[in-house]
Amino acid sequence: MTRPATELRLDKAQVFADLNYEPHEGQRVVHESRALRRVLACGVRWGKTRCAAMEGIAAALEPRATSIGWIVAPTYDLADRVYREIQAIIGMQLKHRLISMKEHDRRILLRNLAGGVSEIRAKSADNPVSLLGEGLDWLIVDEAARLRAHIWENHLAQRLIDRRGWALLISTPRGKGWYFDSFRRGQGKDTSYESWNAPSWQNPHLDRELIEAERARLPERVFMQEFGGQFIEGSGAVFRNVRECATGSWQQPNRGDSYYAGLDLAKVEDYTVLVIMNRRGEVCFVDRFHRLDWNLQIVRIKAALQRFDSPRLHVDSTGSGEPIYEALMREDIYATAYPFTAKSKTALVDHLSLLLERREIVLPRSELWPEGIDELEAFEYSVTEHGHVRSSAPSGQHDDCVMALGLAALLAKPPEGAGATLMPLRY
Ligand SMILES: Nc1ncnc2c1ncn2[C@@H]1O[C@H](COP(=O)(O)OP(=O)(O)OP(=O)(O)O)[C@@H](O)[C@H]1O
Ligand SMILES: [Mg+2]
Repeated sequence: MTRPATELRLDKAQVFADLNYEPHEGQRVVHESRALRRVLACGVRWGKTRCAAMEGIAAALEPRATSIGWIVAPTYDLADRVYREIQAIIGMQLKHRLISMKEHDRRILLRNLAGGVSEIRAKSADNPVSLLGEGLDWLIVDEAARLRAHIWENHLAQRLIDRRGWALLISTPRGKGWYFDSFRRGQGKDTSYESWNAPSWQNPHLDRELIEAERARLPERVFMQEFGGQFIEGSGAVFRNVRECATGSWQQPNRGDSYYAGLDLAKVEDYTVLVIMNRRGEVCFVDRFHRLDWNLQIVRIKAALQRFDSPRLHVDSTGSGEPIYEALMREDIYATAYPFTAKSKTALVDHLSLLLERREIVLPRSELWPEGIDELEAFEYSVTEHGHVRSSAPSGQHDDCVMALGLAALLAKPPEGAGATLMPLRY
């Protein structure tokens, strides 16, 4: 059987050498592959973007009358990563070939090695209308595992048919959708697909210390997905055992028990959530309210706290929370401020994740607290532009139940040997 393959019209290795790009071992095999669909599912900072950018450059230099290639990602910011890298290389080393570079359209026209015109465009999948149009010679998809299946099937894959274009799908592994299926095809007998799977540390340019620091910080399965580059079921989720821990009921205050409370105050769009938990880590009471007048909120919070014998309360005091925090203090509520920063939120989430992993928390059953259970299950890990792993609610979803629960849990079940970063910062 002949292997469906891309045609070779230029000496890629020579082009890379001329551009002072030395692919590492893992990148080299990707560049050498001639499969029409290449799927690169590797750990964070492996060098996927660099590898893809160099493929884009090589494609645009191929001697042809014309060629068109797209870089697509779930958002413009993500598509920009490969695009900006291509732009920088052209700006530094291929300026003499540049015909035009339109910032607004994310569009570059380049004179290729045959004197023909090659077009490179960056597109965002969150605007499918912009994905209508021409047949493509090549396509790079960044963060492909986050791209919805219908975008790949209906808008992208078919763009490649007319001109027998190739696609390079790069991503950290995530979930088991169309991207995982494509990866699997690349491991099987379908010769038009080839796929690779490698950990971050295959990149010799990567700082080992950064990787080890993340290994120590992250739950094992998350580390193995993000840095190990492995497809792991449910591993994007931050909190494990949520359902297993959701076996409790609301509880009346019990004389002699100690209680702890966490309060996340509504910002512009979200809810104020109060969580009260006992010393065994059982969530006893939750109140959640939206757009109530601040004075009413204080009355309601105070009443709930009084019922539970005025427990200690952790409250996020940042931004619009500040005046409420002050007002709570005036009401003689035993509140400690836990100002939210990226770092303090991470500490809170990591701690909560550990408690759930160890099943040291009992949540109300999902029918009693559906929004809380949903929020916990939806909370996910993602990788920032700078390669750091961040945990948050998926964009557009709330995190107030998680934060209030995390604040209460810090008091009820404080981290062992907690240092200054986890302790309340102000009384
Ligand atoms: N062949 C190479 N030679 C020199 N440096 C490289 C090479 N490949 C990658 N790097 C460097 O390694 C770092 C990570 O590369 P890159 O951003 O391409 O990784 P990535 O897998 O796309 O990361 P992320 O998961 O964050 O998107 C960058 O600083 C990049 O410059
Ligand atoms: Mg990248």
